[in-house]
Amino acid sequence: MSIEKTLSIIKPDATKRNITGKIISCFEEQGLSIVAQKRILLSESKAREFYAVHSEKPFFEDLVKYITSGPVVVQILEGQDAIARNRKIMGATNPEEAEEGTIRKQFALSVEANSVHGSDSQETAKSEIKFFFDNSEIAPID
Ligand code: CMP
Repeated sequence: MSIEKTLSIIKPDATKRNITGKIISCFEEQGLSIVAQKRILLSESKAREFYAVHSEKPFFEDLVKYITSGPVVVQILEGQDAIARNRKIMGATNPEEAEEGTIRKQFALSVEANSVHGSDSQETAKSEIKFFFDNSEIAPID
């Protein structure tokens, strides 16, 4: 167990429904702190780059269209085992498979419009954090 940082995105289906506060509360109430945060509109090229690992998947073009369809909130969550903890708080990618009480069970609309993204490993957390944030934009509590 160690203190980690992970990248989290609140996706357009959630920003459009004005539930970013409810989602942020889930992280804070379950032990994660927000140490960086901004609300942005992703460009198509940035979206393609961010999701490049999925570029051969049949859903890639729809995913790019969806993630650029409205504002997103990108944030860095910090805490004990933040990467795994965030994934537990989010629940399964497909909301139909997500456990009760998870963000995706409570709020997601579909496997595409699934409200949140979270890094899936230490390597991706590092690279995804760097993708969106400069060091000067990160403000840990101490
Ligand atoms: P995310 O955690 O952001 O990582 C990749 C995204 O692709 C995933 O959440 C889903 O929103 C989306 N995704 C994964 N599988 C599918 C699928 N079968 N159909 C449509 N979108 C998918």
